[in-house]
Amino acid sequence: MLTFDDDITPSAPATDAQAPAPQTFKRVNAADKRIINAKTDVNQLVPFKYKWAWEKYLATCANHWMPQEVNMTRDIALWKDPNGLTEDERRIVKRNLGFFVTADSLAANNIVLGTYRHITAPECRQFLLRQAFEEAIHTHAYQYIVESLGLDEAEIFNAYNEIKSIRDKDEFLIPYIEAIMDPNFHTGTPETDQTLLKSLIVFACLMEGLFFYVGFTQILALGRQNKMTGAAEQYQYILRDESMHCNFGIDLINQLKLENPHLWTSEFKEEIKALFMHAVELEYRYAEDTMPRGVLGMNASMFKGYLRYIANRRATQIGLEELFPGEENPFPWMSEMIDLKKERNFFETRVIEYQTGGALSWD
Ligand SMILES: [Fe+2]
Ligand SMILES: [Fe+2]
Repeated sequence: MLTFDDDITPSAPATDAQAPAPQTFKRVNAADKRIINAKTDVNQLVPFKYKWAWEKYLATCANHWMPQEVNMTRDIALWKDPNGLTEDERRIVKRNLGFFVTADSLAANNIVLGTYRHITAPECRQFLLRQAFEEAIHTHAYQYIVESLGLDEAEIFNAYNEIKSIRDKDEFLIPYIEAIMDPNFHTGTPETDQTLLKSLIVFACLMEGLFFYVGFTQILALGRQNKMTGAAEQYQYILRDESMHCNFGIDLINQLKLENPHLWTSEFKEEIKALFMHAVELEYRYAEDTMPRGVLGMNASMFKGYLRYIANRRATQIGLEELFPGEENPFPWMSEMIDLKKERNFFETRVIEYQTGGALSWD
């Protein structure tokens, strides 16, 4: 225990009045900022260096939404109507929620308990704080759908333990969360910096950028057929947020690579490629499990092409070659959804266009 008798002599006063101020009191020079292992003060947001991160933070704030703003009345009526949906459509909804009700908690934990403390650029931390709140909104949205439809909460929330195709995806991810959450884990060596980089790639490119896409496509396909339009609207807001998270994550990865080119070794690239291949396989198995038969004009094998197409895109975004050269997008309407400037009543608008224009086709 510290007592007044202990030697806590303050350091000797500077004898030279012109001596430079200690490092910690220096004003921040933007050029000294770094994504990881920076020596600059992380509490000083400005001067900006990573303007792209700040701009993405502003864009996410401009996209603010809350789940209870979406009307779920039609979904509730359809779900309760014994002839409202087919068994295959109901399976899709339940499997979807089974994955997503816990997926966004994993994403939030990964940011708050893992990534955040290792990132030393305050502009990027600002985005991560906003992203963490959005993950809370997403978990809220999925919970709100479960509650609205009167689903068995225990079944849905525990699905990540009970449904193999969901469990397998989470078991793939969890080691990359745990590695950077470990209180004894610190960046600063090539090995630990690679561990962090790998975790960022797994989360941005494979979780938010790949593992979400079978589920998003299925629910949006229901919405396009004028079914579960409330849930589909929620998913569309979530998809918009997740596209932003994925793009931010990719910018972060590329900036980290630029500042630390020694981490991007050929062995490391091979390891990342293998992770991509494994993730595509797991997501394809999830597609097969959720769609044992063709449904909504889609079937599992169409997703094989779609997942390969997405994996190619994520790989090239971080500077790898296409893993499945020449793969085409079987769902071009999904790109339209992602790029769309979201109108509040998107599905309603489309339905009106369909009814009056008569030329639009949903398949
Ligand atoms: Fe999310
Ligand atoms: Fe996210």
